[in-house]
Amino acid sequence: MNDYTFPADFLWGAATSAYQIEGSPTADGAGRSIWHRFSHTPSNTYLNQTGDVACDHYRRYKDDVALMGELGLNAYRFSIAWGRIFPEGTGRVNQKGIDFYSRLVDELLERDIEPNVTLYHWDLPEALDNRGGWLNRDIANWFADYAATMFDALGDRVAMWSTLNEPWVVMDGGYLFGVMAPGHSNLFEAPLVTHNLLRAHGCAVQRFRSSSAGNNGKIGLVVNLEPKYPASQSAQDLDTVRRTDAYMNRQYLDPVFLGNYPEELNEIFGEAWPSWPDEDLRLIGQPIDFLGINYYTRKVERYDAELLPLRAKAVPQVESTQTGTSWEVFPEALTRILLWVKERYGDVPLYITENGAAFYDPPHPIDGKIEDPLRVEYYRQHLRAAHDAISKGVNLRGYFAWSLLDNYEWALGYSKRFGLVHVDYSTQTRRIKSSGRYYAKVISSNGAALAE
Ligand code: FCB
Repeated sequence: MNDYTFPADFLWGAATSAYQIEGSPTADGAGRSIWHRFSHTPSNTYLNQTGDVACDHYRRYKDDVALMGELGLNAYRFSIAWGRIFPEGTGRVNQKGIDFYSRLVDELLERDIEPNVTLYHWDLPEALDNRGGWLNRDIANWFADYAATMFDALGDRVAMWSTLNEPWVVMDGGYLFGVMAPGHSNLFEAPLVTHNLLRAHGCAVQRFRSSSAGNNGKIGLVVNLEPKYPASQSAQDLDTVRRTDAYMNRQYLDPVFLGNYPEELNEIFGEAWPSWPDEDLRLIGQPIDFLGINYYTRKVERYDAELLPLRAKAVPQVESTQTGTSWEVFPEALTRILLWVKERYGDVPLYITENGAAFYDPPHPIDGKIEDPLRVEYYRQHLRAAHDAISKGVNLRGYFAWSLLDNYEWALGYSKRFGLVHVDYSTQTRRIKSSGRYYAKVISSNGAALAE
C-alpha cells in the first residue's frame, strides 16, 4: 500500500474570496466594487444573480471559522475587499473595513488556523475603475498603498500574503473576452492590463519588504495554471499549444521569475503588444517567497485559424469525468504542472492555493445529508497527485481546497457549487458534505487516509 503521509508542517487549508462569500458589499461604509456593478448590470450573470447576500459570511464569519475548526483545517486562504478599506479606492481609510478583517484574523488564530491573505481577488473598487482601473499606470501605486495599509493593520498576526489572485483571469475574462468584470473586450487593452497587474504586484512586494510585516512574513503571487496538450503531433497543433501555454502558463511567471515576457505574446497580440521599459521588468522581477498555484483541469487543443487571437480550439475529452463547469477531471496534470514549475523557475516554495470541483449534490430529502462521491474522488485523486509531486522532489508546502463553502461563482452565479460545505441559500444553513468529512479524515491522518 502506498504511503501518502505529507511533511509534518504541511498546511491543510480551504480557500474563499471576499465577493464570493461575504455579502453586505456596501456595509459599514464600504465602496462598491466592479463586481457589484457588473452583477447589477442586466444580463451579465446567470439569472442576474449578484453577491449582495452570497453566504452572508460578513455577518456569520464566526460560525464559518467554527466550521473550519470542525474540518480540522490548519490554514485558511481568504481575500480582502479593497473597497471595504478604501471606499474611494485611494485616500481615506475606512477603519470599519479593517476591523472586520482584524476580527476574522483573531478568530482564526484562536483556533490555530493560519490566515493566508490575498489582497486582490478581482473586486476592484468601482471608483478606481472610473479612473481607468487596471488600464491606468497609477494603479501600481494605488494598489501598493492599499497593500501597505493592510501590512500595517494585520502584519503582526498574518504571515502569509499574496498580492494578486489569477492575474490571467483579470486580463482574459475582464478585458479581452468581457465575461468577467469590468466586461471589456479589447485586444489592445489586454496587454496593458497584464503589465499593470504585474507592476502593481511588484510595487506591493517592494512595500512589503520595507514594512514590519516583511520581517517575519512571506509574500507571493497566485496564478492559475492549465497544462496544454496537443490534440495531435502535427506541427500546427504543437505550435498551438506552444502559444496557449505561453498565454496562460508563462505570461505572468516568466516576467516574475525570468525577467522577460514570453516571445509568443508578440505573436498572439501582434501590434497590440508594446515593448516595455526595462525598469518595469526589474520591478516585476523582484524575488518572491512562494508561488501559489490554482489548478483545476488541463486542456487538449488543436489549431483553428478562425479563433483569434490564439488560433486554438479546445477538444472535449468525452471519455473523462466532466465537472459541473465542464472541466475535465485530470489529476496527473497537477503533478506535471508542479514538476514543470520547479524545472522552469527553480526551487521556489509552492502552495496549491485552489483545487476543487463543481458538482451538484442536493441534500437527502429525509435526513438532509449530502453525499458527493464525485467530489470525494476528485480530492482523493488530486491529493495523491500532489503527494506524487512531493515524492518527486517538489517543494510543496500546503494545499487549499476550493472552496470552504458553496458560493457565488462569478458570472455563473449560484449555479455551480464548489463547497466542502453545502449552503442552503434560502436559510444560510451550512451542512458539511461527505467530501468535507473525507477531507477532515485526510487532514487528521496527515494524508495517510489517501491510501484507502
Ligand atoms: C478560480 C477563482 C475562484 C473560483 C474558482 C472556481 O479561477 O480564483 O474565485 O471562481 O476558479
